[in-house]
Amino acid sequence: MKKLSKDIAAIILISIAYVVTFAVIAVYYCSVKSESKNMKETALSSGSFDGTTYSLSDFDVKIGPRGGDSGAWLKDPIRDENKNILHGPSVGIIYEIVITNTGDAVITDWTADVYMPEFMWLNNGWNGKLEFHQSSGTEEKVQLIDLREYQSVPIELDYYIDHTGPMIPLDKGDKFIYCPSKADNEYPLEPASETEEVNSSAIVGFIVYVPDKGLDYAPVFDNVVFHYHLSRNAWDDPLFIAIVGVDIMWLVLIIALAVSHIRVRKLLKQQKHDAQIIDQSIKTFINFVEAKDPNTKGHSERVAEISFALADEMGYSSKECNDIRCIALMHDCGKIAIPVNILQKPARLTDEEYEVIKRHTKVGGDMLRDFSSIKDMNLGALYHHERYDGKGYPKGLKGEEIPLIARIICVADSLDAMNSNRCYRPKLTKEVILDELEKNKGKQFDPDIVDHVLKLIKQGVIKIGE
Ligand SMILES: [Fe+2]
Repeated sequence: MKKLSKDIAAIILISIAYVVTFAVIAVYYCSVKSESKNMKETALSSGSFDGTTYSLSDFDVKIGPRGGDSGAWLKDPIRDENKNILHGPSVGIIYEIVITNTGDAVITDWTADVYMPEFMWLNNGWNGKLEFHQSSGTEEKVQLIDLREYQSVPIELDYYIDHTGPMIPLDKGDKFIYCPSKADNEYPLEPASETEEVNSSAIVGFIVYVPDKGLDYAPVFDNVVFHYHLSRNAWDDPLFIAIVGVDIMWLVLIIALAVSHIRVRKLLKQQKHDAQIIDQSIKTFINFVEAKDPNTKGHSERVAEISFALADEMGYSSKECNDIRCIALMHDCGKIAIPVNILQKPARLTDEEYEVIKRHTKVGGDMLRDFSSIKDMNLGALYHHERYDGKGYPKGLKGEEIPLIARIICVADSLDAMNSNRCYRPKLTKEVILDELEKNKGKQFDPDIVDHVLKLIKQGVIKIGE
């Protein structure tokens, strides 16, 4: 039963560990998932700049003339239909925005708010659409355009067309929002990997014309704000996998313990049933024996109870105590082979009759020889009339030559005999019984066992003289 209680305690403790670990997994997983729902915002000004690259919290950004070299070209003055100059000669420059994922999460999408450092025309843009915020009039004009296909929708912004396409003027402080194209693989951007080829970098570009500047001029776009989503895969985190592994281990342990618990319960139930069958069989046989000698009815049962109490007092396990009880129950089973006229003789036995009755030890031992379900089952019947001083029968064994179980039954047998009425005498008083036990220490009885029985009598566990 103690084992079952320990099993249940272990199952409860491991179940708590399982639930706690599962909660940690759930909280971590939900936090990772919710992080991807929140749009993040970061400006170039929040990062560090080494002269070519801005390092932001989740990615690096390069923004400037393509290839680092302006590659600029000059455009002649532009005139309207009345030959009025719209603006003087200007310098044209191709710009690129290069973003490289430097974090451990996927950048699932991104946009860039690019603020104009000065007046300029925006002429072209690729790998995405541009949402212009133009404040040339009293009202801000906003329009999302794919400049590669500008003919497909009417342009609602201030602009004019030359041979290179639309020229869209933007004042200092105006902005366009670069909305990169997924079809051009500008997102999602995977974390950079040294072992496999992944899309961790995006490049978009645009062309500007700045009036009244030379070929060596290139405006600096340092006011750019990025918006993006991050998506992390919990399964990419070794710690997360380790925690999930631990949780699975708890689950396996719980199942294993539960299965083991059920099996042990079944086994204990079966053992209890088997013990009942053995116990009932023994008691039935004892009823046969006592039917031949009604004067000693109940004697075997009482000897068994005294032997059980002694074994328990002497520190035997619960199973051993039960076995000793069964062995003691059968101690006089050999009497079934003794003639009734001798067993029930009310007068003193003759020497010959006494020799016959002594045979019940050997007969009992032989009868129980094949009773292997309980260890040493035959020893109680065979040796319970041996004496500690060697003057007993059937073999005249001495001291510890006599099996301990037989020494226990010997004391229990004699104690119950003294405490019972017989046809030839009434039961003895408590004082006489105690005196007899003391006097026979080391003679008939094992002195240690007498000490134990005296202790049990004193404690009231074994009751005599009542
Ligand atoms: Fe006996």
